[in-house]
Amino acid sequence: MRELSVYCEIVPYSGALERIGRERPAGVILSGGPDSVCRPGSPTLPPEFFDLGIPTLGICYGLQLIAARLQGSVVPGNQREFGRAALEVLDEDTLFAGLPRNFQVWMSHGDRVGTLPPGFAELARSGEVISAAGDPIRRIWGLQFHPEVAHTEHGAELLENFLARICGCRRDWTMQSFIESSVRRIREAIGDGRAICGLSGGVDSSVAAILVHRAIGDRLTCIFVDNGLLRRDEFATVLATFRDRLGLGIVGVEAGDRFLARLERVEDPEQKRKIIGEEFIRVFEEEARRLGDVGFLVQGTLYPDVIESTSVLGPSALIKSHHNVGGLPLDMNLRLVEPLRELFKDEVRRVALELGMEPGFVYRHPFPGPGLAVRVIGAITPERLDLLRRADRIVQEEIERAGLSRDVWQAFAVLLPVQSVGVMGDDRTYEHVAALRAVTSTDGMTADWARLPHAVLERISSRIVNEVRGINRVVYDITSKPPGTIEWE
Ligand code: XMP
Repeated sequence: MRELSVYCEIVPYSGALERIGRERPAGVILSGGPDSVCRPGSPTLPPEFFDLGIPTLGICYGLQLIAARLQGSVVPGNQREFGRAALEVLDEDTLFAGLPRNFQVWMSHGDRVGTLPPGFAELARSGEVISAAGDPIRRIWGLQFHPEVAHTEHGAELLENFLARICGCRRDWTMQSFIESSVRRIREAIGDGRAICGLSGGVDSSVAAILVHRAIGDRLTCIFVDNGLLRRDEFATVLATFRDRLGLGIVGVEAGDRFLARLERVEDPEQKRKIIGEEFIRVFEEEARRLGDVGFLVQGTLYPDVIESTSVLGPSALIKSHHNVGGLPLDMNLRLVEPLRELFKDEVRRVALELGMEPGFVYRHPFPGPGLAVRVIGAITPERLDLLRRADRIVQEEIERAGLSRDVWQAFAVLLPVQSVGVMGDDRTYEHVAALRAVTSTDGMTADWARLPHAVLERISSRIVNEVRGINRVVYDITSKPPGTIEWE
């Protein structure tokens, strides 16, 4: 939807009815999913949802849910139909307006619709499968195939038809319009107050800072904290970049000792994140007190941080507490301003370019707020941080040298709490293992391990083992997300 310049949000099905009823969006899309509506306990919506009168498009599972909920029927499938299918359009009104009568679509489903609910007409089929249906009176439509994937011909036009002809949306969500409305909203939120911004050195918090700076000028002070978990030389380089190139007022705070003291002997990843999140806030509060009458804290939180820190199924399903969302202490006395909470990373990068930031900075790899703490697996000590920093520096240099920075989303080293036996010269060694993680992704929500050239892998591995005393083995992580996550903790 956003690629079609229409603003949209992803909302978990649980609690969706109240939110949709309250916010009255122009339209709702019920997404696909791996479950079966025939399975008791599968994701569903209360029947009242379908009486709200909001234009709705069900895709795959979404269509089956509509059929099951509105007195149609769903035939359980014991085999998945997966791949290209030939679509035959039966009705060229609305959804299929302006499209050819026959085209290829991408299917991926087990169950399918048996009989349509009363009021629904079949709009397209592929072989025996009802592939599109709609009820123009209740304004509910459904597709069995996936219009959002590249293998479906005319998928974007179909979605455009839904947005324009059925929902009446204007296509006015652009990064320029985002910048204007966001500056306006920040100005309203902060009024004539003062704010501090926690900078991480990455593109997100920098863009957030520039937007707030546009809104309130030098009533914003940026703070960059050395939490002892930064990469080598990062503190000095980032401070210099911000001062010289972005023209933002910035205060550097060296707080490594207090973070490391609180992290001593902590091994649990969620506990690490919570401690770091809280300590950041304490540092910001102290700085705010020093500056006097500061009421707001600006953070570069992104939409995926919000989604992944929100649990659909209760606390057990929480993926990670991203430190600037889930890890905030409850008794914080600064009000949060998060201008990028609605954006995906690729959108933030577009905003950054629109704001005139240099591409070299805009395409910097993301670096997590909790820093190297979530890459030293197990307990964090200054020695282990030092090992990781030296290994990571080599990874950064070799990826850069091979010209692969833009092809990979992130590449970094992880220090494992494992030692292994090796042989160097004639001596036996028993030292640490480092893992190399390199992934491709567009938004960090899903990712695949990068197929790095063997020659690059070889150089990284041999340099780490030769140059970093204390690491004698390098392994390459070949897990995608899902089921893995990008960071190890
Ligand atoms: P995961 O490990 O959840 O990471 O697959 C997805 C992306 O988010 C980054 N990341 C974070 N960024 N605070 C941040 O600002 C955090 O706590 C955090 N944890 C993970 C990660 O580097 C990847 O780009």
